[in-house]
Amino acid sequence: MFEIRVPATSANLGPGFDCLGMALAIYNRFIFEPADDFEMYNVDPRFDNDENMFLRAFMTESAILGKTTGIHVDFACDVPICRGLGSSAAMYAGGIIAANLVNGIQPDAEQCVNLASELEHHPDNAAPCILGGATACLKRDDNTVLVHRLDISDRFRYTILVPDSEVPTEQARAILPKSYPLSIAAGNGAHAVMMVEALRTGSLELLREAAVDQLHEPYRSQLIPNYSTVRKIVLDNTEGAFLISGSGSTCFFISHESLAPNAVRQIMELPDGWQIVETNIARGGIEIKENGVWRKSI
Ligand code: HSE
Repeated sequence: MFEIRVPATSANLGPGFDCLGMALAIYNRFIFEPADDFEMYNVDPRFDNDENMFLRAFMTESAILGKTTGIHVDFACDVPICRGLGSSAAMYAGGIIAANLVNGIQPDAEQCVNLASELEHHPDNAAPCILGGATACLKRDDNTVLVHRLDISDRFRYTILVPDSEVPTEQARAILPKSYPLSIAAGNGAHAVMMVEALRTGSLELLREAAVDQLHEPYRSQLIPNYSTVRKIVLDNTEGAFLISGSGSTCFFISHESLAPNAVRQIMELPDGWQIVETNIARGGIEIKENGVWRKSI
């Protein structure tokens, strides 16, 4: 019997569209064993079918490894679905790692990140999900991914604000323009570089100036209920950077101080069922439980 936990991720980190991402300590756990057939337990009924992402990734990786072992897997999933917190990356990554483990193979980090990114069509959730911490990714012309782990200051706190409404990533990508003026492309690149530096140094001043995006947030904010109100409440009460997590609907707040209780109270009074959680960076990525202790699996 194996037990792994796979973290949520917040992709983009503002201006780092399809490039920057961070693993967060909210997990999907998978408990599984090799079998002759395929069984899934405690799956969300919407995903209890052959299209299940964990299962698809398991099958794809098994085929690559040349293995035909089946799996019985129990799902214990805490990563919210369709909220911009990398739930699909967590499913794909879990299935890929499981295919290795049930066959007694030590997973290869690069191969797992490449496959998870291919299944996802972008690497900025898959890489931090598998490797942990924060990462910058570059998709090469041959579709493989160059990943760089980022140094992140431990001065920051990370708060997710999750509304009770889903935004499918395909919808959030479809509303984006097909092309942008050069000034916007150049500006976003500059902000993304500054964002990496702000996260490394722990400078709140730099972070606030860096955390500006013009590629996706202006369009996706329309898909988030009361976005402007929530943003204003947060920034009026606590200094920090207010971002859209991945493709939304979750908002992601990075700060030195915890979000002020006054802001939490006001947002909870809005009609959108907001859940607000201060979380940590998941530095271990996908972890396996051994003798009751979680350790890096890759
Ligand atoms: N970079 C992807 C996007 C992340 O913004 O569409 C999706 O979670």
